[in-house]
Amino acid sequence: MDLGLAGKAVIVTGGASNIGRAISLTFAKEGANLAIAELDEAQGKKVAKQADALGAGGRTIVIKTDVTKLGEVEAMVKKTLDEFGKVDVLVNVVGWDNLMPFTDTTPEFWDKIIALNYRSDLNCIKTILPHMIERKGGNIVSISSDAGRVGEFREAVYSGCKAGVIALSKAVAREVGRHGIRLNVVCPGMTIPTSAEEVSEYSMFKLEGKFIADVGFPPEAKEKMAKSYALRRLGTAQDIANGVIFLASDMASFITGQTLSVSGGYSMM
Ligand SMILES: NC(=O)c1ccc[n+]([C@@H]2O[C@H](COP(=O)([O-])OP(=O)(O)OC[C@H]3O[C@@H](n4cnc5c(N)ncnc54)[C@H](O)[C@@H]3O)[C@@H](O)[C@H]2O)c1
Repeated sequence: MDLGLAGKAVIVTGGASNIGRAISLTFAKEGANLAIAELDEAQGKKVAKQADALGAGGRTIVIKTDVTKLGEVEAMVKKTLDEFGKVDVLVNVVGWDNLMPFTDTTPEFWDKIIALNYRSDLNCIKTILPHMIERKGGNIVSISSDAGRVGEFREAVYSGCKAGVIALSKAVAREVGRHGIRLNVVCPGMTIPTSAEEVSEYSMFKLEGKFIADVGFPPEAKEKMAKSYALRRLGTAQDIANGVIFLASDMASFITGQTLSVSGGYSMM
């Protein structure tokens, strides 16, 4: 099936690790031109090499960017436009959390969570919209979380930000739909990377340079978690990428302001 993504110019923030990496490689497989906007440039370059090795016809560039800083986002969008002449799709992937009870959180921790999970999306959406309005079309998919729909235990501040991403996307979708611009949201459930190769230095699954997914989530813990999912398994990064690709494709051309949980039925709304 042709998803109509070949030759499209796509920005993926946080596109070098786990879910973002799978999203980058899936767009590359469809022949899209890709700008990976990443704090971890080295991991970005590894993913770019893998994307180019797919030989689907697109080109991948890596732009070192801190998406919490508006000036860096503006420079990243300018560079993408210089390289590809347009931006058809923006995928906001960057996000981060460290699980703890709300009573243990501090204002410094709130600032970090808000910057990485909400302000990052404000920066990217605000910067890309004038270009998309001028071109009378564009497509933005932001990664939230089921935590933003149901409110997750030990993820209070993160849950609030992820709920914010959903409401922000709906509100902006109402404002810019008349320009042919769509905004949708994908909410992953727990998506644990399977190897250190799949994650960047700044991944939530790395601590002090060490890959912690296998330590933090041993097989028994994963099995227990899977029982709370209707489909009785945890998601893969590819599962999430498939949802994103669908919403970014022409197959979803009449879908905007929607939130899609890709979480095996963990939340149903
Ligand atoms: N993995 C899960 O279980 C899960 C579940 C629900 C929602 N999510 C959401 O999905 C998204 C991706 O999750 P993941 O597991 O792939 O995360 P990850 O931590 O593995 O990857 C995040 C990527 O963002 C990059 N990054 C971090 N700060 C940055 C910054 N300031 N500027 C630019 N790049 C930056 C990192 O280098 C990394 O490559 C996040 O928004 C997360 O909140 C993840």
